[in-house]
Amino acid sequence: MSRKILVTAALPYANGSIHIGHLVEYLQTDMWVRFQKLRGNDCIYCCADDAHGTPIMIRARKEGITPEKLIADMHGQHARDFAGFGIEFDSYCTTNSDDNRQVAEYIFNSLNDGGHITTRDVKQAYCENDKMFLPDRFILGTCPKCGAEDQYGDTCEVCHGTYVPTELKNAKCSVCGEKPVERESKHYFVKLSNFEDRLQQWLSEGHVHEQVYNKLMEWFKTGLKDWDISRDGPYFGFNIPGEADKYFYVWFDAPIGYISSSMNYCKENGLNFEDYWKNPDAEIHHFIGKDITYFHALFWPTMLMGAGFNTPTQLAIHGFLTVNGTKMSKSKGTFISAETYLNNLDPTYLRYYYACKLSDGLEDIDLNLEDFVARVNSDLVGKIANLTSRSVQMLNKNFDSKAGALSDGARELLKPLQSASEEIAELFEKRQYAAAIRTICGLADSINRYVDERKPWAAVKEDAGHAIETLTATVNAVRIITTYLKPILPEYAAKIESILNIDPLKWDDSQNLIENHTIGKFQRLIERIDPKKVEAMVEESKQNQEVSEPKEQTELEKDPIAAECDFDDFMKVDLRVAKVLECEIIEEADKLLRFKLDLGGETRQVIAGIRKAYDPAKMIGRNVLMVANLKPRKMKFGMSEGMICAAGPGGEEVFVFSPDDGAKPGQRAH
Ligand code: 2FM
Ligand code: ZN
Repeated sequence: MSRKILVTAALPYANGSIHIGHLVEYLQTDMWVRFQKLRGNDCIYCCADDAHGTPIMIRARKEGITPEKLIADMHGQHARDFAGFGIEFDSYCTTNSDDNRQVAEYIFNSLNDGGHITTRDVKQAYCENDKMFLPDRFILGTCPKCGAEDQYGDTCEVCHGTYVPTELKNAKCSVCGEKPVERESKHYFVKLSNFEDRLQQWLSEGHVHEQVYNKLMEWFKTGLKDWDISRDGPYFGFNIPGEADKYFYVWFDAPIGYISSSMNYCKENGLNFEDYWKNPDAEIHHFIGKDITYFHALFWPTMLMGAGFNTPTQLAIHGFLTVNGTKMSKSKGTFISAETYLNNLDPTYLRYYYACKLSDGLEDIDLNLEDFVARVNSDLVGKIANLTSRSVQMLNKNFDSKAGALSDGARELLKPLQSASEEIAELFEKRQYAAAIRTICGLADSINRYVDERKPWAAVKEDAGHAIETLTATVNAVRIITTYLKPILPEYAAKIESILNIDPLKWDDSQNLIENHTIGKFQRLIERIDPKKVEAMVEESKQNQEVSEPKEQTELEKDPIAAECDFDDFMKVDLRVAKVLECEIIEEADKLLRFKLDLGGETRQVIAGIRKAYDPAKMIGRNVLMVANLKPRKMKFGMSEGMICAAGPGGEEVFVFSPDDGAKPGQRAH
């Protein structure tokens, strides 16, 4: 029986271009939806631009245009980039739509009627010059923990410390540079605690990855805090019902975009959106990055429960993209926009490579540019596409494009390809694309070996029957392998369908074979990647100076879920016993101590934010555990050449790990 499935990918902000990091998600989702459609399921892919919030308002102001104009321009750009990569939405809207406003008001009113909304006054930084409250990321100042300058109001990028904006030294508004003042205003909150039992129940039903489940359970231990869903004007968003100058926080109406986008699809197709959101037989799958887990695993289900809608069937959560092993970087030219990629390379390459790397885990995936070239050239071009040229060109040339009948031997050869169908389907279903690709490549290898052994290019002169038997078996293999690759490589599959002169393939077509069939003419399927084009793409990215606005997400909402690290990763951390030789207060910083540590013949300076918890005199002579291979960091008060391991929430409650006296400085932890 066909399933009814609604799939979404996270809504991209309407103030930035799509880049290859975003594409990990949109491509992964596109592949899953295409797979479901090929299987014959009723599956739709809905998305929208996330159009509200302070960053969008500020960017529009800077550009001297209205936010409406900014989001309309970006909508066009996003649509172009997605289409360029073959990402096919069934509905792509914006959260700044009437439908979205109506659903947002409906959900808010339902929560309110149910007694799940409360209000209270909140003190927040306010810029008297810009006449606006400042989100944490719009305040800059000196980090209270390490003294680094120009840090955001909530976290320091140098020492990774977190704090509240009022702790920041010399705070200034990032828009105009004025010192903010503190001001109080009424905010609306969702009482998440009213949903604790239902949320725990929902989370325990297997809708999220086990690791995510475990992490979220920690939140329940301390009790769920109320979630602030309002912002004061000026703000680009929807007015809260009954309030003149208060707006829904962007993160309130953003996920509602999933509903309003599906509503748009339903309107265009004579359906009712409740067919998805209230129908117990429908499935809802949200594909998201791990940084926005809390919104989707706590806040969003609460909103849905409060309004009487279905909760998600699955949160398909993925890690981030790294390029050549590190975070994408503008200066290294690895912060590559979708547009720059498409200016230089064929999108099929990236679709294939991402599929080779994707699984259902939370680990980051790495685009190693050398490996990218090697993998695409050897596997996609050398193994998979090559099978088509090896068979079709000879059929065109020597047999008037006519495939013959299949011998028993050929049928035997094709059986393992056909019987892999369900195994591969299961891998797609579970988002284990890397494993699916490995299986498919294995099948292609077996056929390449068959062609190598039977040498149709030689047989064609001496034994035409032998040759056509080989070629007929091979085009059948091409057809089956293409079926399996079709969710990943739709454009490539369409070319094969045209070359083989067949109807668009569906998943179950792998179970049929073609005989005595006239195929079409060979056409070039895919070129090898020229490494020079990759270099050109990196160079072009270095020139691309688009500045990214900070996000509005608050510290509380950020996601501390770390992917499991494998043993090799763990072994990269060089944990060692160190003896404190000297320890002194840094007068200019109220949280820092400067340590001189003996690492067994080598001394290191480490600056640590543990002054509130430890008297420096008592530290001298103690053993501590240190991360010895952390890249040295230049802090305001000197270099810090490692990190002392400690636990606890901070302030006076910090506890250093202190190996027993028998441990010798320099010894490695194991
Ligand atoms: O983090 C982001 O990029 C958000 N724009 C995602 C929103 S997803 C959904 F909840 F709307
Ligand atoms: Zn200001």
